[in-house]
Amino acid sequence: MRLSAIVASSALVLGALASAAPATAAPGAAAATPPDISVANVKQHLTDLQSIATANGGNRAHGRTGYKASVDFVKAKLDAAGYTTTLQQFTYNGATGYNVIADWPGGDPNQVVMSGSHLDSVTSGPGINDNGSGSAAILETALAVSRAQLQPTKHIRFAWWGAEELGLVGSKYYVNNLPSAERAKISGYLNFDMIGSPNPGYFVYDDDPTIEQTFKNYYAGLGIPTEIETEGDGRSDHAPFKNAGVPVGGLFSGADYTKTSAQAQKWGGTAGQSFDRCYHSSCDTTANINDTALDRNSDAIAYAIWNLATGTTTPPTGKVFENTADVSIPDNGAAVTSSVTVSGVTGNAPSNLSVGVDIVHTYRGDLVVDLIAPDGSVYNLHNRSGGSADNLVQTYTVNASTEVANGVWKLRAQDKAAVDTGYINGFKLTFP
Ligand code: TRP
Ligand code: ZN
Ligand code: CA
Repeated sequence: MRLSAIVASSALVLGALASAAPATAAPGAAAATPPDISVANVKQHLTDLQSIATANGGNRAHGRTGYKASVDFVKAKLDAAGYTTTLQQFTYNGATGYNVIADWPGGDPNQVVMSGSHLDSVTSGPGINDNGSGSAAILETALAVSRAQLQPTKHIRFAWWGAEELGLVGSKYYVNNLPSAERAKISGYLNFDMIGSPNPGYFVYDDDPTIEQTFKNYYAGLGIPTEIETEGDGRSDHAPFKNAGVPVGGLFSGADYTKTSAQAQKWGGTAGQSFDRCYHSSCDTTANINDTALDRNSDAIAYAIWNLATGTTTPPTGKVFENTADVSIPDNGAAVTSSVTVSGVTGNAPSNLSVGVDIVHTYRGDLVVDLIAPDGSVYNLHNRSGGSADNLVQTYTVNASTEVANGVWKLRAQDKAAVDTGYINGFKLTFP
């Protein structure tokens, strides 16, 4: 067993939700109307974070007093607003780090909409755009959830991460120590890192289609074009979630890349200059914020959380065939299968057959996983990639258009190396 599997039990409490109230939305209910987030309130949080930095040697970096003061500041507001908050401690570079995790009581504990921002700065400055902006915006959104006394369908969770600037340390720690069953309950993770850049762009992460479309819908409503975020895909706290198979999304207003003239034409601002000239420097102060970008992105966050977590999700239009019986996969042994019987589908399978694979395993690099059609045709889904990561929880799209749809389909899994083990937790076929 690997170390992460051993230490996971110590962090069980973080994933366990306090007795959740039943969802109150009626079947088919529309999402509740999202609030307009007050940019003045968001800016007040930034002023407070700036004061914390100023009083603590000019920064809010991991291991420095300004970081712990930032943690205490955020946690006190969340506690007063009725959140269940947890400080998750970790050690990095010989210093104690903290993640603040805040759960809004209620909603379906098996469907968690989680939003996060890193709360630490670099040592060279107060980190107001990077990332006071995301931290303050999700804080104000969390307070708006409380003011509305929102009773969402899904469970809402927020996180403020430590030591992002030292390599996504806090968010990696959280994901690595979350039991896989708790990880599987996160329907989406939304990341906000740098959303008030002084020469802003409007970038949407290109990952989970539903989250991405939700943000695009918000911006379409304002008539503001967006672009896909390309300034380094793995460079913030969504990366550990994405690597663990959690659908992710987020917003970003740009860091040290240069705004092109085409971008300046559609968004305003200065072409030939970076989105944030004070990125990672001492001038990343409250003066380093574009209020309009901060305002729009804060409203977009509330819009997304309200839409993703309230109302009822539209049921899938397709036919779903699922087997959730556990099938243990022998260590370095024979292949095993989990089956579903497809019936009532006319003709051939589609070119976009969706194959949901949920395998719990302590080392997915051991696994070879195939889809087997009723006539025995084999479609390889996974061939020992992903190295030492845990679990294989992923939806694959398979062109199965030469296969007759009806009949017995199998998910075949084989473990090809000694020591680590696991089991098939679920196998799901969705015909559109
Ligand atoms: N997280 C990076 C930092 O703090 C900033 C950054 C660069 C970023 N590229 C990104 C954030 C893309 C989100 C998306 O240094
Ligand atoms: Zn950052
Ligand atoms: Ca093995």
